[in-house]
Amino acid sequence: MPSDMPGLREEILKLKDEKRAIILAHNYQREEVQDIADFVGDSLELSRTAATVDCDMIVFCGVSFMAESASILSPDKTVLLPEEFALCPMADMIHVDSARRERKSFPGFPSPPPYVYPPEFSLRDIKAQYPGIPVVAYVNTTAAVKAESDICCTSANVVKVIESLPGDRVICIPDKNLSMWAQKNTSKKVIAWDGYCNIHERVTPDDIRKARGERPGALIMAHPECRLDVLEAADHVTSTSGMLRFASSSSSKEFVVGTEIGLMHRLMKENPEKQFYPLRNDMICPNMKKTTLQSVLRAFRENTHPVKVPEHVRIPAKRALDRMLAIA
Ligand code: 13P
Ligand code: SF4
Repeated sequence: MPSDMPGLREEILKLKDEKRAIILAHNYQREEVQDIADFVGDSLELSRTAATVDCDMIVFCGVSFMAESASILSPDKTVLLPEEFALCPMADMIHVDSARRERKSFPGFPSPPPYVYPPEFSLRDIKAQYPGIPVVAYVNTTAAVKAESDICCTSANVVKVIESLPGDRVICIPDKNLSMWAQKNTSKKVIAWDGYCNIHERVTPDDIRKARGERPGALIMAHPECRLDVLEAADHVTSTSGMLRFASSSSSKEFVVGTEIGLMHRLMKENPEKQFYPLRNDMICPNMKKTTLQSVLRAFRENTHPVKVPEHVRIPAKRALDRMLAIA
């Protein structure tokens, strides 16, 4: 079924009204999905909206950790994730407990900080190694991992979150690149995990050099999930919605966009007089692209796929999200 099938949008909007629903979409969603959403934003904005919006149902066009956060923050609402297997691989790079608990000792820690933990260990392992050191969980984590963490952060507020915590060390999970970026911007010691986003990790400083050669007048924006050597070579480092704000307030007319290409849609729509170029054409998150207008319609018709976090996980996970929302 083509996504522009006549009547598809109308049918979705009719069911949305009937069910007192709202559609939230991440900035990386397909154009037609963004265009039908009530609100499109970055992870922080979507969490804020999910926590405060007045409706009975949220259809979350994004990946599963985002729908989980919506359910954690708004437990009385039905939260639907139209594509059941729209997952974030990075969120699966850390688990609460380890399959290798029999391992009693850790290898020597690399020095100097930030230390990066190998993924075969668990969150509980690292907490046991650093008792009392607060854990900052990127929102790209499961509800269970959030529940074991002190506070959440997004790419928009990681430094602010770290600075809000007592003591001079923090454990930052799971994105090593976000952690390295935070380390560069805080005087606290950041103990990092070895997770990463494979879409952003593929960008290299050569891509930046090439873009500078091809677009000498353009400003280069990069998402903090990119490697530190890439971020250091960019002109502006920020979240997806931070890029939207930067592009519209800057006097520059040309921008190279160092994040998933779904953001290009809003950048071009909101700044028709400016030019935007992807830093790499292959920055496409297959999980973000799973959701289509057809799957949104099916979600409304068949209630697919409800996301509900059990109370014993939801309550501590909400504490970590609330702490972030309070300071950010
Ligand atoms: P933002 O919070 O910047 O929108 O990023 C979310 C994400 O998944 C980036 O890959
Ligand atoms: Fe996860 Fe990367 Fe996709 Fe974002 S772009 S949802 S971090 S895989």
